[in-house]
Amino acid sequence: MIGPELLARAAAILRAGGLVAFPTETVYGLGANALDVRAVDRVFEVKERPPTSPLIIHVSSVEMARSLAREWPESAAKLAEVFWPGPLTLVVPAHPRIPENVTAGLSTVGLRQPDHPIAAALIREAGVPIAAPSANRFSGLSPTTAEHVLKSLGDRIDLILDGGPTRVGIESTVLSLVGARPQLLRPGIVSRDEIEAVIGEIVERAEDLELEGAHPAPGLHPRHYSPLTPLFLVDGDRLPARGRGAYLWLAQPLPAGFSQQMPADAAGYAAILYDTLHRLDERGFDWIAVERPPQWPEWAAIQDRLERASTRL
Ligand code: TXA
Ligand code: MG
Repeated sequence: MIGPELLARAAAILRAGGLVAFPTETVYGLGANALDVRAVDRVFEVKERPPTSPLIIHVSSVEMARSLAREWPESAAKLAEVFWPGPLTLVVPAHPRIPENVTAGLSTVGLRQPDHPIAAALIREAGVPIAAPSANRFSGLSPTTAEHVLKSLGDRIDLILDGGPTRVGIESTVLSLVGARPQLLRPGIVSRDEIEAVIGEIVERAEDLELEGAHPAPGLHPRHYSPLTPLFLVDGDRLPARGRGAYLWLAQPLPAGFSQQMPADAAGYAAILYDTLHRLDERGFDWIAVERPPQWPEWAAIQDRLERASTRL
């Protein structure tokens, strides 16, 4: 656990405009004071993230979230009541006091209260909302351990708080509450069904959004959440014919240079997916083949991440 002195130091770094990586229940975040324009600029620099990609602001209470929203719709109140703290990001109209670089110039802001004792204590101790993307270089694999952060950003940031491996393992569900109908911008472990049980029908993001200016939804870049090794989603026995590879299988074992069975439940699979890909990425394989997971609703977020991570032929 992180002691009070280290926590105080981390909070002081944030208040002074520095960058602190910290664990959440989903993945590690790269945190900056969300109300400090220059600190937020540094987040984009160290991640090499395009300024058109907005950041999520992390809060320690619903009150803090409301202070960052121009409007707080009833649907937001209901969802926060049920799912916060937790892996659901709500996109609502942005309060004018939020710096423009946080929202990439959009009139909306993504807010979430993370369900992790270190994240919660850090936000409370810093006394400011914390803008935090995943703590990795842009378009790479998100980090689920402090070692992953160290590897990709260690020499560029002020402090990493090590809280061990994250529990959920993939990024939060992102839901927009600004349109005529609530819209699912990124699937996550909080599922469409669970959200609909609270606020009624929602719509999924249309696949081929025309993009101008800021990106209103995550992962619209050609590759996102990707390992460096080419990754293929495979059906049946179609492993790549050439080279040395690794095969992650669910139901069907096949001969490959390296083969690992993945958990058969979606939550267990999500929890180890990125760590598994980070490890395989270091082993110099020519390819990573992943058996396509089932099309069932509880696998939607995993399906989404694997499709984005996979190499397009
Ligand atoms: O689980 C998570 O969400 C992790 C942890 C650290 O909280 N964070 C994370 O941040 O995944 P990031 O920046 O890697 O992905 C956040 C996504 C962005 O790709 C962005 O498109 C979307 O959330 N987002 C943020 N603000 C938005 C807004 N105003 N409108 C639409 N989408 C927004
Ligand atoms: Mg990210």
